[in-house]
Formats: sequence, structure tokens, C-alpha cells
Amino acid sequence: MNTSEIKTRFPIFQHHPELVYLDSAATSLKPQTVIDAEREYLEEYSTNVGRGLYPLAEKATEKFEAVREKVARHIKAAGSQEIIFTSSTTGSINLAADLLNHTVNNGDNLIITAMEHHSNFLPWQELVRQKNADLRVAPLTQTGELDLGILQNLVDARTKIVAFTAVSNVLGTINPVQEIVTIIKNINPHTLILVDAAQATGSIPLDVTRWNADLVAFSAHKMFGPTGVGVLYGKSHLLEKLRPVTFGGNMVLDVGQASETIYKEAPTRFEAGTPNIGGVIALGAALDYIENLGPANIRGHEKNLTDHALKRLQETFRNDIRIIGPINPERHGSIISFALNGIHPHDIAHLLGEKNICIRAGHHCAAPLHRALGLDATTRISFSVYNNEDDVEKLIGVLKEIQKMFLMK
Ligand SMILES: Cc1ncc(COP(=O)(O)O)c(C=O)c1O
Repeated sequence: MNTSEIKTRFPIFQHHPELVYLDSAATSLKPQTVIDAEREYLEEYSTNVGRGLYPLAEKATEKFEAVREKVARHIKAAGSQEIIFTSSTTGSINLAADLLNHTVNNGDNLIITAMEHHSNFLPWQELVRQKNADLRVAPLTQTGELDLGILQNLVDARTKIVAFTAVSNVLGTINPVQEIVTIIKNINPHTLILVDAAQATGSIPLDVTRWNADLVAFSAHKMFGPTGVGVLYGKSHLLEKLRPVTFGGNMVLDVGQASETIYKEAPTRFEAGTPNIGGVIALGAALDYIENLGPANIRGHEKNLTDHALKRLQETFRNDIRIIGPINPERHGSIISFALNGIHPHDIAHLLGEKNICIRAGHHCAAPLHRALGLDATTRISFSVYNNEDDVEKLIGVLKEIQKMFLMK
């Protein structure tokens, strides 16, 4: 992958030529084509969707709905009726928890894993609290992977929902989604499964039909798209059965004052109100960007870079570094979290920031995972298509200076 050429497509590097951006797990940078798509909508046809009968509004509706089709094709869903637009992964998982609220009763159980982001933890914690149900948390192995044997033992006849991440935003672990879904469905075919794909989209090729999960959530902004747009994929036969939980314009066929209100079909009945139209259209441009590069090429580039960085960090800092996450490169996404002996991650992030190197420090919205690892915080680096081995060398060079500075104290 020609990262120098790729960088020319991301205008942020013209504004900040020295930028070493190693925080794509927080949000990816945006290519010019994505910026142009949103700007064109705002400048040239910024009308509402699903309502107007004049050409500009029809254009906006067509472009908006074309992205729904594109998302469906990209993630290999059965059709665009399975794609609900939301505000983010967080919005998608909260929507899923609300849609499934009525399926959970006193004494039922829900399963999540110890590597979940708070977005895939708190909505379920709140649901079990309301319903007096049980929240089971699947533990991890020493290498930060799910122990499928233990996970299997947690599933029983009263397991209503299992929610887990496809890729951990801290450990970088790539979970074997299809295998996990098969294990769960073999024990209880009625259990509904939600996959948090926030860190998978934009990094690994997705196939939701092969995964066979009932619901999949992700955000546009982690796959070169804008903030404020998310997707909740749901199998059509499931969505058809669910009642809406948010009410307002554009989601009804007829509103009766005395008689019954008739809601539109899925997915429209789950999208009350005016959506983020320009954002969704820009997500379409982000998908084009990913498809032009090729999802398998993106994964290949990020995997090589991650393997290289893991090796370089280990050989440079040896016993002074604790890298968390899987050792098997096939199971490791483009995220590396680590702790450097005696230096707080916030100090590292601040000092790297002064040298134009952007990384993340803290618990990365995964406090339970950090507690399980016995750490308050870690330093996280994450790669995307615009990163290369020079970025890794710059990072290591400054980390060595920081280490020297702290050792002298
Ligand atoms: C695994 C995972 N799930 C959910 C989220 C939440 O995504 P958003 O903030 O876009 O809603 C994130 C964000 O970092 C994440 O990494």
C-alpha cells in the first residue's frame, strides 16, 4: 500500500504535515472524497429525505437510500431493509437494547464479555437492572482472548441476548464471530446475538450473513466517514417483528387520533425524525473509499504494520513494557495497548502529543477490562491506511526519549 499517495487524499496532512496519527481506533481521518460528498449535499441539494416531491428532495432521497443499499452490499446483508441509520455505535446498541427490552423477563440472563467497550456494557447492565435479570460476563484468557469453553458454559435456556465485540478496542483481539455465534445458537437457538463491529469496519472485511448474528452495530466515523452516523444491522425477520421505540415524523403510514396508528415497515419505522442526511451520504463516499482500496488490502497493510510495531516495541523496551492482547497475529487487529514501567500513560500521551504524535491514554471506555488486567490505564496506538513503518520509528524514538527522561528523575 502506497501510504505517501494515500496521505495526499487526506487533507489533514496538508494542514499538519508532521502529523503522526496513531489514534484511528478513536476516529479515523477523513479523505477528501468524504468531505466533498457532505459539502456537496450541504451546498447543492440540502433538502429533506422521504417527504418532498420536487426534484431536489427526490435527489436527496435517492442519494440517501442508495447509501443504505451500499451499506447492505458492503457488509453482505440480505438487503437494505436490514440497515437502520442511527447516530453511532452507541446509538445503535442503545436502540437494540430498547427494541429487545420486552423480550427480557425476571430471571432471564444476558451475556457480555470482559473486553466490551462501555457502549456495549452499560445498555445491557441497565436492561438487566430494570428487568431483575442476570448479567453474565465472559472472562478472558491470559492472552486477552475469549475462553470459548467458559462462554459456552454461561449460555442456557434462559439466555436472551449475547452481546460481544468483533474486535476489542483495547486488546486488539479479533474474535472468531462466526464460531461464537454457532456455539451459542447450538445451545439456545432463541438467543439473540448482537455484535459490536465498531472496530471491525474499516479494518477487516465484514460478512454479516456468514456471521449469522441477529444484530450488528457500527459507526461511520471509524471507517473514514463523518461523526454523527451509525448503523444497526438487523436480520429482516427479526426487525419485522419489533415495535418502534422512538416516535415522530417519517415513520408512520397513518396516524389515528382515536383509531390505531400504522407504522411503516422496517427499517423506516425505527428512524423517526430527520436523519443526518449529509453524514449518511458521506458514509457512502467512505464505503467507496474502502472498496477502492480493497478491505482485504487494508487488513493486510494494517496487519503487517501491527506485527512490525509489536516486534519493535518488544525488542526496544524488553522487560520495561507490558503489551496486552493476543500474541497470534491472525487474532490481532490494528490496535496495540501497552504499559511502560514507571511512566503514566497520560504523561506518555502528553509528551508524544508535543511531538505531533497522537495516541490515546486511559481506560479507553473499558474500565472493567482494565480492572481485570490490574491496570488503571494503558497507552494505545492504532493504525490505519495512512500509517507506515516511519510512524512506528518516530513513536519509538520519542518513547525512548520519554523513558530516558523519567529514568533520570
Ligand atoms: C468497540 C467499540 N464499541 C463501541 C464504541 C462506541 O462508538 P461511538 O463512540 O462511535 O458510539 C467504540 C468507540 O471507540 C468502540 O471502540
